[in-house]
Amino acid sequence: MGLLYTEFKLRGTTLRNRLVMSPMCMYSSQNGYVSDWHMVHYPSRAVGGAGLIILEATAVEERGRISPLDLGIYRDEHTEGLSRLCKLCKEFGAKVGIQLAHAGRKAESYPPWERDKVKVRGTKDAIAPSSIPFGKNWLPPREATLEDIKEIQNSYRLAFKRAVEAGFDLIEIHAAHGYLIHEFLSPLTNKREDSYGGSFENRVRFLIEVVRIARKEIPDNIPLSVRISAVDYVEGGWTLEESIELVKLLKEEGVDLIDCSSGRISEEEGFVEYPGHQVPFAEEIRKKTDARTMAVGVIRTYEQAEEIISNGRADLVAIGREFLRDPYLPLRWAKQAGLKPEVPRQYIRAW
Ligand SMILES: Cc1cc2nc3c(=O)[nH]c(=O)nc-3n(C[C@H](O)[C@H](O)[C@H](O)COP(=O)(O)O)c2cc1C
Repeated sequence: MGLLYTEFKLRGTTLRNRLVMSPMCMYSSQNGYVSDWHMVHYPSRAVGGAGLIILEATAVEERGRISPLDLGIYRDEHTEGLSRLCKLCKEFGAKVGIQLAHAGRKAESYPPWERDKVKVRGTKDAIAPSSIPFGKNWLPPREATLEDIKEIQNSYRLAFKRAVEAGFDLIEIHAAHGYLIHEFLSPLTNKREDSYGGSFENRVRFLIEVVRIARKEIPDNIPLSVRISAVDYVEGGWTLEESIELVKLLKEEGVDLIDCSSGRISEEEGFVEYPGHQVPFAEEIRKKTDARTMAVGVIRTYEQAEEIISNGRADLVAIGREFLRDPYLPLRWAKQAGLKPEVPRQYIRAW
């Protein structure tokens, strides 16, 4: 038997298996609140056997939403719905995490299905390390002042507090995909001349400070994950070597898991998807830093997932789109592997 269906412990959180539902925006919120959609969508994956469900990019500030329909954690009033959702998923055996996000220069003021209709993309409220638009047809963001930086970090502080109050088993900081934190990391988007730009130490400063705030706000038994884009795929951009150096620092600051994605910082990137295309990042980072890593990206079959875990290339696998096609994927794969999955008794006659 392989290791995919074995428990995994991070601080005080023990997962029933190594299969994680990757964070995926549902664009189903009004003013940031949990909706009926969320109450159906996430618990279904808990019934389906996921070890850990990481809720979609959840905005720490209203202006940090990817779209006006994003889930939010920028008001105290958001906590109640998040808490109900978290509790319901846990009733079905899954552990639940939340991804805290700020869209930076990629914030937009219309739903994603209207992107093709707008002439100029983005929003006039967007804020970023430097005033460089994401692409040709995008509004430029405003460059954050040192005061803005303090304000955004305070929004993170409040978001961490609310996430703990809501009862999440893990908190993930979204530092990937060209959103605010990634914009500080990458030399392509960070042209600042103060202590937050220029050298590697300066570009990672914003994230390191956010991690310090997190570790102060969240209890010791709750694990902290950071999703990074391991590379930018653009000349002069963020590199795997920098990711490795960053992860060494993150480990020292009490980060427990590195969720290894890539790209999305620039319209010009040469990003190509194929089965397991980001697994080598999780593998290399794990090897060079001894950090626990999560692999993600076009992991579509039981064999692929088992190979990654059992060969020690990553500690966890995150599944995105395949989980949208089949909420019961962990049960289905377990059966395929010849295991006897713990099927909810209401469904036993089907197994
Ligand atoms: C509908 C959708 C929404 C997504 N939203 C997020 C998100 O909120 N945060 C994030 O880090 N990645 C997001 N992603 C990326 C996924 O988490 C995942 O990394 C990506 O889809 C690759 O995995 P897959 O090939 O298994 O789908 C999204 C992907 C999809 C398809």
